[in-house]
Order: sequence, then C-alpha cells, then structure tokens
Amino acid sequence: MDRTKPQIIELPKIFDPRGNLTFVESGNQVPFDIRRVYWIYDVPGGEKRGSHAHFKGIELIVAASGSFDVILSDGHDTLSFSLNRSYRGLYVPAGYWRTLDNFSSGSVCMVLTSTPYSEDDYVRDFDEYLKLKADNEI
Ligand code: TYD
Repeated sequence: MDRTKPQIIELPKIFDPRGNLTFVESGNQVPFDIRRVYWIYDVPGGEKRGSHAHFKGIELIVAASGSFDVILSDGHDTLSFSLNRSYRGLYVPAGYWRTLDNFSSGSVCMVLTSTPYSEDDYVRDFDEYLKLKADNEI
C-alpha cells in the first residue's frame, strides 16, 4: 500500500452465526504501531467532531457501530469517505485535515493511532493548517 495516501483498509472478518469478529494487530493489518485507541460515541444529531490535523499521528478510523462520514483535505483537494462497516478502516496519514460528521444514531467512531495523546501534535485552526501546508511544515 501507498502509506502516503488515505485509503480504506479491509480488515479480517470472521463470519460466525454467533456474531462476527474483526481484529487488528499493530504493524500487521495496520501499517503502524498502535500506541493509543479512543472512541467517540453518543454524538448528538447534526454534530461534527474532529476538524483538526496531526503533524505526526497516523490513524485508522473505524465505524465500530453505525455510520459517519470522514472528510479529508490536504489544503487543495477534498476526499469524503462514508464509513459504515465494522470490518473496514480508513487509513489517514499524518498531515491531513479531517472532519467527522453525519453520525448515525448510536454510532461509535473508533480511532487507532500511532502516537500517545499530545496537544502539540494538533493543528486546530484551518487557516493555520493552510499556512503550514503552504510552507511545507505539515
Ligand atoms: P478533541 O481532539 O477536541 O476531539 P475531536 O476528535 O472531536 O477533535 O478531544 C476532546 C478532548 O479530549 C480534548 O480536551 C482532548 C481530550 N483527549 C484526550 O485527553 N486524549 C485523547 O486521546 C483524545 C483523542 C482527546
């Protein structure tokens, strides 16, 4: 895979009449070491999450339940992904501005990331992001 490009990664799905199962292993299904996992849930209708970029953090975003959209921007082009399967993850390299919206009721957004939490790794202002992109600093 091209690690510089956002893309959907199909994860293993173990079909089972008792209920299906999906798994990920650091450095195996995901091309980075997983240092942190967080999940977003109980999102009220119409709310957005995210709207930031990371200098270093690489992510795999999974709709563990329900559905939502992930909108990615590199400052020029915009890409939109609808996530609605528990066995599919969106790989997001560092440096993309990403916004999550259109959450279905009861959805769970699980994010596997390559870095421990650090506010220093965030850009939360889009104009600042565009400036950093223009200066090749993100
Ligand atoms: P925030 O980054 O604003 O959420 P979003 O994904 O919608 O942009 O995070 C909300 C708050 O949670 C913020 O105060 C930082 C804190 N937080 C942690 O402490 N650890 C974490 O791993 C994450 C993702 C957030």
